[in-house]
Amino acid sequence: TSFLALSAGFANAGTLDDISKSGELRACFDAGYMPFEMKAKNGKFIGFDIDLGKLMAKKMGVKYVPVNTAWDGIIPALLTGKCDIIMAGMTVNAKRNMRVNFADPYIVVGQSILLNPKHKDKVLSYKDLNSPEYTIAAKLGTSGEQAIKRMLSKASYNAFETQTDAALEVVNGKADAMIYDMPYISIYAAQSEGKTTAILEPFTYEPLGWAVKQGDPDILNFLNNFLRQTKGDGDYQRIYDKWFKS
Ligand code: ARG
Repeated sequence: TSFLALSAGFANAGTLDDISKSGELRACFDAGYMPFEMKAKNGKFIGFDIDLGKLMAKKMGVKYVPVNTAWDGIIPALLTGKCDIIMAGMTVNAKRNMRVNFADPYIVVGQSILLNPKHKDKVLSYKDLNSPEYTIAAKLGTSGEQAIKRMLSKASYNAFETQTDAALEVVNGKADAMIYDMPYISIYAAQSEGKTTAILEPFTYEPLGWAVKQGDPDILNFLNNFLRQTKGDGDYQRIYDKWFKS
């Protein structure tokens, strides 16, 4: 066997090669995060991330395969090869960026407040929540949790596995507020009108990006070109309007 043949055999195929060979784009997400990814009554996954993933798979000429994963295990799922990409509204931040690569952001959001209505005249900004008299809920491992630890450290913090459980705490008054991405809070507050109120104006800056394994410039190049094309030709706007304008 020649050296050339050997090195060809050993060459790290990379994510794009894996996708081509398997004929599948396996996308990790964590359903329940409105309007990015939800499980419909018929069991199908729907939402902004799902539609973008389906479009990406179509452009790649492969099948879109949804991989629903618990949020606190989503980076390990990528790193151990359970999916090719995380398309899950993941906030690009330095800590995560030490472990994964992010494509250019596909949307920018920030943290908002879902509030129990009994506080609506007292709490006018996130700063008002930074007191031991308040209990704040968030989803485990999210940037909302990080914002609470960083900016609301005087309040009590309760972590929940799912965003629905965290939001229900605000409805039933066991928590005074929930901190989460603005689009989710906006939809949840509209659905629970009367039982909750919201301070939507984001108090953090959070670009969301698709994450892939480190050391793979080829997939990043694909993702950034896909994003630019999709934004330029109207596909992004069409999908955005479908999920964000109601
Ligand atoms: N943007 C927030 C974060 O990165 C929340 C994302 C939650 N995504 C989900 N699919 N549940 O922590």
